[in-house]
Amino acid sequence: MQSLVMVPTLVLLLLMSTTNGVENRKPNAIERFEYSAMNCRDHSASLADFGGVGDGITSNTKAFQAAINHLSRFSSDGGSLLFVPPGKWLTASFNLTSHFTLFLHKDAVILGSQDESEWPVIEGLPSYGPGKDTDRRFSSLIFGTNLTNVVITGDNGTIDGQGELWWQKFRNRELKFTRPFLIEISYSENVQISNLTLVNSANWNIHPVYCSNVIVQGITILAPVTSPNTDGINPDSCTNTRIEDCYIVSGDDCVAVKSGLDQYGIAFGMPTKHLVIRRLTCISPTSAVIALGSEMSGGVQDVRAENIVAISSESGVRIKTGKGRGGFVKDIYVKGMTMHTMRWVFWMTGNYGSHADNGYDPNALPVIQNINYRDMVAENVTMASWLEGIPGDPFTGICISNVTIALAETAKKLQWNCTDIAGISSGVVPHTCELLANQSLEKWTTCDFPEDILPIEEVQLKKCSFRSKCV
Ligand SMILES: *[C@@H]1O[C@H](CO)[C@@H](O)[C@H](O)[C@H]1NC(C)=O
Ligand SMILES: *[C@@H]1O[C@H](CO)[C@@H](O)[C@H](O)[C@H]1NC(C)=O
Ligand SMILES: *[C@@H]1O[C@H](CO)[C@@H](O)[C@H](O)[C@H]1NC(C)=O
Ligand SMILES: *[C@@H]1O[C@H](CO)[C@@H](O)[C@H](O)[C@H]1NC(C)=O
Ligand SMILES: *[C@@H]1O[C@H](CO)[C@@H](O)[C@H](O)[C@H]1NC(C)=O
Ligand SMILES: *[C@@H]1O[C@H](CO)[C@@H](O)[C@H](O)[C@H]1NC(C)=O
Ligand SMILES: *[C@@H]1O[C@H](CO)[C@@H](O)[C@H](O)[C@H]1NC(C)=O
Ligand SMILES: *[C@@H]1O[C@H](CO)[C@@H](O)[C@H](O)[C@H]1NC(C)=O
Repeated sequence: MQSLVMVPTLVLLLLMSTTNGVENRKPNAIERFEYSAMNCRDHSASLADFGGVGDGITSNTKAFQAAINHLSRFSSDGGSLLFVPPGKWLTASFNLTSHFTLFLHKDAVILGSQDESEWPVIEGLPSYGPGKDTDRRFSSLIFGTNLTNVVITGDNGTIDGQGELWWQKFRNRELKFTRPFLIEISYSENVQISNLTLVNSANWNIHPVYCSNVIVQGITILAPVTSPNTDGINPDSCTNTRIEDCYIVSGDDCVAVKSGLDQYGIAFGMPTKHLVIRRLTCISPTSAVIALGSEMSGGVQDVRAENIVAISSESGVRIKTGKGRGGFVKDIYVKGMTMHTMRWVFWMTGNYGSHADNGYDPNALPVIQNINYRDMVAENVTMASWLEGIPGDPFTGICISNVTIALAETAKKLQWNCTDIAGISSGVVPHTCELLANQSLEKWTTCDFPEDILPIEEVQLKKCSFRSKCV
């Protein structure tokens, strides 16, 4: 807000609220909010100024869009912030703008509308083709495309997708289009999503696609562990992404790294690379803490994950691919994982069968190479590893070191099931398979982890503030 203009109003409002102030939160008092962001903003406004009603019943789709359309005029004039005050703000999809921040008060809840007719239907993504999952689809609750410098943050305010009805319709095959994601930002750069709680997404939670310079920080994601496809964070054909300090409970993968599917992903050719994942806690009983693929046809390269806690999850790190995918998954580094109650610690599958359509090229073989896992402890594990490459296209350069896996009472007899893979291991308990030839203690190997620092790790957030009424 232009502070010069605001001062008289501020004084007046404070005076008014002291004369009749009985409650703790004076209804008209102006409060000051602080947050950290890639960029601060010169202008701000409240959703309430655009006719928003936070009663949980009234639709705010038009209010959100009117507010953001209005604020978009400040794109080249210091940027703008939209404040979402305490309340329950029911809305269908709305679009963000550039040089813009959406800020949720800690008691603000954005509620996803369950009325299908309110949701625009948009085109699928080119790297997926007209396949089943990303074909004509409902726009995401919070959507942004072709933007620069966009921030979604708050004092841990909540975005609730109200997914139950969507999950039910999906299971009953009652939907004509793919369920909406909670947040999708495409073809954008300088994107920050931080300090929010996301619950009950209808589909994936956070989907940055064809983006660069993305920070996802301090996000709590909660979905029932039985809910379909409620992936946590899915960096997809993005460069320079940093995911940190997140807590995720998911009905699918906590973090799923992607880059398009089969012939469409190969043709689009945009990899996900330079991805940092750190200080993540994950509960994923049916899927992986970190999944690479199965949509990896544009390639995945240079992923660095560390300081990860997994609880009651199916697998720790999982690479999913198959014939027809093409692309690559290479230069993957994971260290410092602590895991409790796991089905598999490491899983690689080269026979992931689902395809975009029959037009895939069965001779398009993926390259899986230079995969490094080290410094991990796991307990109550059913099976240490299932590593299944592709006959004639082995997964190579696998390195596993300093990993101690304690088995569950019900553990399998065969702990390392390896086919069509090659690599080395060192200091791993229980004994690895012969294809990961154990090095003797004299030639102890430590698997690589890069020492250089990526540009996205060096991005510092600025301290920002604004003032707003809390109604
Ligand atoms: C998120 O909140 C924490 C503590 O509440 C704060 O230290 C951090 O700076 C915030 N991060 C962002 C990106 O606002
Ligand atoms: C958001 O933008 C997309 C792409 O430009 C468009 O198809 C969609 O209708 C817009 N949604 C709204 C709510 O205006
Ligand atoms: C966004 O950018 C992509 C790639 O440059 C382009 O193909 C697409 O048409 C743009 N979309 C909009 C809504 O401007
Ligand atoms: C944010 O809210 C969630 C859900 O209430 C809570 O579990 C989490 O601890 C909160 N995070 C912070 C940093 O306060
Ligand atoms: C082995 O991993 C543990 C964590 O699981 C770590 O504390 C320890 O320093 C590592 N040892 C070596 C030799 O790197
Ligand atoms: C070990 O895992 C089994 C499931 O495989 C679970 O039922 C049991 O509670 C776990 N035990 C502990 C001590 O976490
Ligand atoms: C080992 O893996 C192969 C294929 O990768 C599978 O067919 C077989 O059932 C597995 N064996 C066990 C005991 O898990
Ligand atoms: C690795 O091989 C050495 C001998 O070469 C043996 O002493 C050690 O027990 C083996 N360790 C594992 C974990 O397989």
